Amino acid sequence: LIVLKPNNVFRETSSRFFGSPSKRGAAKKLLAGFLVAFLLTGCREVTDFAGIPNALDARGPAAADITVLWWIMFWLGTAVFLLVTGLSLYIVINRRQATPNPELRSVDSNAVEDHSWIWYGGVIMPSIILVIVLFFTLRSLAATAKPPVLSDIEVEIVGWTWFWEVRYPHENFATANEMYIPVGTPVLLRLTSADVIHSFWVPQLHGKMDLIPGRTNTFWIQADEPGIYRGICAEFCGAQHARMQFMVVAVSEEEYIEWANRQSQPAADPQNELVARGRAVFETNDCAFCHTVRGTQANGQLGPDLTHVGSRLTLGAGTLVNNRGNLAGWIVDPQHAKPGNLMPRTNLPSEDLQALLAFMESLE
Ligand code: CUA
Repeated sequence: LIVLKPNNVFRETSSRFFGSPSKRGAAKKLLAGFLVAFLLTGCREVTDFAGIPNALDARGPAAADITVLWWIMFWLGTAVFLLVTGLSLYIVINRRQATPNPELRSVDSNAVEDHSWIWYGGVIMPSIILVIVLFFTLRSLAATAKPPVLSDIEVEIVGWTWFWEVRYPHENFATANEMYIPVGTPVLLRLTSADVIHSFWVPQLHGKMDLIPGRTNTFWIQADEPGIYRGICAEFCGAQHARMQFMVVAVSEEEYIEWANRQSQPAADPQNELVARGRAVFETNDCAFCHTVRGTQANGQLGPDLTHVGSRLTLGAGTLVNNRGNLAGWIVDPQHAKPGNLMPRTNLPSEDLQALLAFMESLE
């Protein structure tokens, strides 16, 4: 409403404070404005192919267990809230109806008052509820601590401000900001950080686990259905904490093996002159100081490994969808889409930029 009829809303909002007769209309419109703003918070992001990372929409065994615990706590909390609110209303309403009688009160003050409700309501009931919550919490902690079966797929994840380095040590390759896993198989994760504390969270697959510098935390995830699950950094780590996302792509066993085989290959040799020129641009400019492209002379260690960047879903850890236009914008001015990240602006002649784009798109 504020967008469609700004004059009306603001005129009537101000009249609310200046005492015009249309107070109620203005209040309603203000309320509607807030409601619309509230609903807009549910809008999908640019990476809408990955769906919403909803912790109550579990797609793996650990997340399913946590969801049950969530609902138990939700309904217990709701019951306590309703009970306390009901009792408070009861007292307020009865106080109002009671007619004060000073004489009666002075007689009553000699009688011994019954305070046993303090014990029931203040000690016994909270103790029972907390013991129930503790029981289910310990049960969930034990159930989700270890995977149901051990698999030999291991992934090392290193948090950087602000991207995720993803290494598959057995398959001997590194990628960034996305990982493929086979459906129905638990995958062991080893998590650490290169700088500050981050937290790995794929709400549909498991709870959170911190990435702490100088320490390795083990964790696991399993997806029971194929799909792209969005992960987020769940520990505030600086200005672009919100743009530190990653994708977990759950596929069939065969597709996983195919993907891992392709990832472990070095970059393909240039198939045409433009790509060859782009590769030379990459190797001789600043790109190579920070990024690695296996099979080329670029072996920088400060930024994401770009060996197969052309096959990735997003750029800048979920900031932009990976397509030619976004890639060009990112290379020319990465500070526009993600201010504060370590990548500087580039000032390439347009022929070099076109060649570089062709090279990067060839890295599939
Ligand atoms: Cu990394 Cu928040």
